Amino acid sequence: MKNLDVYPIPVLARDLPDDGVAVAIDALRATTTITTALANGADCVTPFETVEETLQAKATIARERPELAARITLGGERGGLPIDGFDLGNSPRSYDRAAIENKILYFTTTNGTKAILTCRGRVLLACYLNADAVARRILTSDAERVSIVCAGTGGAFTEEDLLLAGLLTDRLTLADRNFALNVQAEVAREMWRREAETPLVEKLRASRGGQNLKRIGLSRDISDAARLDALDVVPECRRVSDFPNVEIRLGSARESQ
Ligand code: MLT
Repeated sequence: MKNLDVYPIPVLARDLPDDGVAVAIDALRATTTITTALANGADCVTPFETVEETLQAKATIARERPELAARITLGGERGGLPIDGFDLGNSPRSYDRAAIENKILYFTTTNGTKAILTCRGRVLLACYLNADAVARRILTSDAERVSIVCAGTGGAFTEEDLLLAGLLTDRLTLADRNFALNVQAEVAREMWRREAETPLVEKLRASRGGQNLKRIGLSRDISDAARLDALDVVPECRRVSDFPNVEIRLGSARESQ
């Protein structure tokens, strides 16, 4: 049997093995925004935990690799809103081709980028837009252990992330009966199946992240994030020897076969 474990918040996933596949989820909105940026031609994305680290990394690149400085775009949010001095916020639709093609995105969000940096092993990023592509990528990998890590909000789990974990678990277990699930994976799959008839956008609007976005006037980001299976791309995290050490690019299906 292979293992499929869901972790509702990142702190529970601190000891992931180096030889498994980890899937980071922050459906509203970090992984949706990163996936959109890469699908629209961003060269790569580097996730940071803090605003300070992000600004320092840009200053270091400007000093050491001045030829790259013009291609760096700063993006992310605090309190859901764009960060002072940054180029872009955390709304997927602001990462269109005109804004992001060929750019190197330095990105920090409140919970999502921390969750991504918690993951170990081969790290993929999932959102509703690329759920099918991520499930297919996992099924064609030879991983014995798949860990789905939800970002949550401020250390509490959120429905929008757990539902996506449940959707992935549902699709993976329908395609391959050799997965043993942890309890959280079973609960997430049940959540997804129980609400199968409700339109996804309604479920996201009712979720904690959806309510937060409504409160700050960003409801349209919820419908953008609810475009199930709209993108056939899988962002993948790599540790690189070059500064700043972690980058997210579109992985190619061939590499996983
Ligand atoms: C996060 O990282 O907490 C989210 O992406 C927040 C947001 O939707 O802006």
